[in-house]
Amino acid sequence: MSKNTKIDFNSVVNDILDNKEFKKLNKEVHHGISRYDHSVKVAKKTYNFCKNFKKLDYIGATRAALLHDFFTNKEMEDLNAIKRYKTHPSLAVKNSSKYYNLSDMEKDAILSHMFPWNLKAPKYKESWVVTLADKIVSIKEGYSTKFVLPISIFILFLFNVIIVSR
Ligand SMILES: [Fe+2]
Ligand SMILES: [Fe+2]
Repeated sequence: MSKNTKIDFNSVVNDILDNKEFKKLNKEVHHGISRYDHSVKVAKKTYNFCKNFKKLDYIGATRAALLHDFFTNKEMEDLNAIKRYKTHPSLAVKNSSKYYNLSDMEKDAILSHMFPWNLKAPKYKESWVVTLADKIVSIKEGYSTKFVLPISIFILFLFNVIIVSR
C-alpha cells in the first residue's frame, strides 16, 4: 500500500474515540489539558510519523498511542506519584483490553511508553515512536520541560542507534 492510500487518522481511531469509557478521559486533567486531548495529540503524532514508513504498523501504533494513558485518576487515587508513573501503563493495557484485542506490539507500546522511568524498554519500532511522541507532546504541553527534554533527546539517540541502524 503506498502512503497515499493509507487509511486516514479518523478511520483508524473512530471506534476508540466513540467508546463511552474512553470519552470519560475528557474530564481527566492531564498536563493541564484533558487526558482525552493529550491522547489524541500523541496518536496524531504517531500516525503522522508511522504512515510514512512502509514497514511500520501505522494502524496498531496509532491505536496504541491513543490508548497509552487509558485510565482515570480515581483508579490511581491510592497511589503516590512514583507508583502512578510506574503502574499507569499496565492499568491502561488492562482497561484497553476490556474493549480491544491488543496485539503484542500494541501492548508493548502502551507498557513501555514511560521508558526510561519505568525501565521497560520498547521492544518494537512502533513502541519507540509512541514513547517519543508522548514526550514531544508532553514538552509542547509544558510538562516538566527541563526534565522531559533531555530524556527525549536520549530516546531519540537510542532510537537512532538501536532501531534505525538495524
Ligand atoms: Fe503515560
Ligand atoms: Fe501520555
